[in-house]
Amino acid sequence: MEFLDLPPVLSAQGVVRLPGSKSISNRVLLLAALAEGETEVRDLLESDDTARMLDALKTLGVGVESLGANAFRVRGAGGAFPVKEAALFLGNAGTAFRSLTATLALAGGHYQLTGVPRMHERPIGDLVNALRQIGANIAYPGNEGFPPLEIRPPALLSGQAVSVRGDVSSQFLTGLLMALPLTGAETTVEVVGELISKPYIEITLAIMARFGVQVQREGWQRFTVPAGSRYRSPGVIYVEGDASSASYFLALGAIGASDGDSLRVEGVGRDSIQGDVRFADALAQMGAQIAMGPNWIEASAPVTGKLQGISLDCNHIPDAAMTLAIAAIFAEGPTTLTNIASWRVKETDRIAAMATELRKLGVTVDEGADYIRVFPPEKITDLHPAAIATYDDHRIAMCFSLAAFGTPLRINEPNCVAKTFPDYFERFAAVTKPVPAIAIDGPSASGKGTVAARVAAALGWHYLDSGALYRLTALAARRAGIAWDDEVRVAAIAAGLDVVFSEGSILLAGEEVGEAIRTEEMSSGASQVAALPAVRAALLFRQRVFRCAPGLVGDGRDMASVVFADAATKVFLTASVEVRAERRYKQLIEKGIAANILPLLQDLRERDERDSQRSVAPLQQSTDAKLLDTTSLSIETAVAQVLAWANKAPK
Ligand code: DC
Repeated sequence: MEFLDLPPVLSAQGVVRLPGSKSISNRVLLLAALAEGETEVRDLLESDDTARMLDALKTLGVGVESLGANAFRVRGAGGAFPVKEAALFLGNAGTAFRSLTATLALAGGHYQLTGVPRMHERPIGDLVNALRQIGANIAYPGNEGFPPLEIRPPALLSGQAVSVRGDVSSQFLTGLLMALPLTGAETTVEVVGELISKPYIEITLAIMARFGVQVQREGWQRFTVPAGSRYRSPGVIYVEGDASSASYFLALGAIGASDGDSLRVEGVGRDSIQGDVRFADALAQMGAQIAMGPNWIEASAPVTGKLQGISLDCNHIPDAAMTLAIAAIFAEGPTTLTNIASWRVKETDRIAAMATELRKLGVTVDEGADYIRVFPPEKITDLHPAAIATYDDHRIAMCFSLAAFGTPLRINEPNCVAKTFPDYFERFAAVTKPVPAIAIDGPSASGKGTVAARVAAALGWHYLDSGALYRLTALAARRAGIAWDDEVRVAAIAAGLDVVFSEGSILLAGEEVGEAIRTEEMSSGASQVAALPAVRAALLFRQRVFRCAPGLVGDGRDMASVVFADAATKVFLTASVEVRAERRYKQLIEKGIAANILPLLQDLRERDERDSQRSVAPLQQSTDAKLLDTTSLSIETAVAQVLAWANKAPK
């Protein structure tokens, strides 16, 4: 399984130029394909969902040409598509699936529409029922009411009124409205039930108007597409930035941009046609400071320093509302989000997914058919580090990245963000400041442990002795009667280590083992288990969890190359093998343990060899690490040198 470990975040600030809106991109592409004339689409979102739409349009015979830099030229078909028989795979792209279903149902051809398994669990019966009222011929080869679909030419009935349910997904109404000009006749759509996600209908109507079709409407109840409506290319059309994607960065600003800093998103603002810009109002209600221009929004933390929990009907911001559920962790008092039943039929059941993953972080959550209530932890340090499952849902992955303000975090299958925001995590890293780390690597008995612990003490930072985890694994394996070369079972031991580090003592399953892991036998065992890739993988996140504010100094073999590869300060600390043997000899004698220098020397040479020759994370100086040879240096001088490199004065 792929994963991405996010270091805990201290603060956020900067400027993010947003990728194009998914909702606008896919609507514009479809209408450009149906329109008379060529349309140049600029700032299109390039992502999985738009790729599905572009592929489908090409299959349907529409001329689409990439002009580079997110620009495309679409040669409109001037009505129905040239290709009359096709099988289309639409992945998990709801916008593409619903709008193409309606369009193809009225276009006159034989089409098969399929998607990923989750797409086949997302209901589409209400749209199909509406289309059937005007003569569409649609069958369900799988389950009644769900994709896949088989579409045959319609027997169009003109002058009809169509009724469609509005309370499950607004995409049904959007798909229907965009397709209706293909009939050429006047058609009135009656919405049954309370229309949800109304701002998305506003987007649909605004884009249809740009392409020359004016829908007449009576409130949110009745929409009429006039007879003879035809799409005409507007020539060049610019796609706005994605307002839902903006929500993550605005929330970052609201949680972590203080002391005059702010987080600014460019590409959406006051003049946006996307309802999700109203997410900024919800953040303001939580106390965040918000400023807005025609095409930008800025957010920073409340003047009081702390967000406040709110209760909000989220019908108008269904997607961005998910971000509020995570911002709620950092607020005072619970946050209740209501009228979000549509979350249950999205990429995954988002209410269930959000609740499950929030609980992994130690957050208390109440959920119901159409609401979620989040109770923040008493202190943000009470959050548990966790591996977050993402359910092939881009928004779950992006939302949970915000929890890194409270804890180190693992995001499983992070590439699901490609649905709408392929470089999300790079942008996230560019505007967030992680808790600082100093990585100190070096061979056994080089003194790196002593130096690292003293640097940590001088700065008031946390300290990780990563070697202790390998030693603990060796000891626990020995006690469980497992051989040190049994990779699968030793890795299981490493994954389940019940260990507590506190105030200089190390407890393994409740028993003090500070001395027991330091024997020469455990040194050798640690070196052996450390060569097993599955053991290293099992200990990786456990090590990263030690990185907590205000900072961490970690020592080991692969701190700089693997565990804290983003550390700002990296040191490779070594000494001649003779001096290291002598230091170890003195240590043992001081502890009253009988020792002999020659076997110690021999043992160090063997361990150096094994640690530096192994295939995974071998001991070696990272190219970006500074070399500190302590053969003739005192501990004080070595500590001072590391502090100087880190540009830090002792506290
Ligand atoms: O630093 P130490 O001597 O306590 O480490 C014990 C063993 O664990 C050593 O042989 C190498 C291994 N180790 C490792 O492979 N990676 C680390 N980050 C730390 C230790």
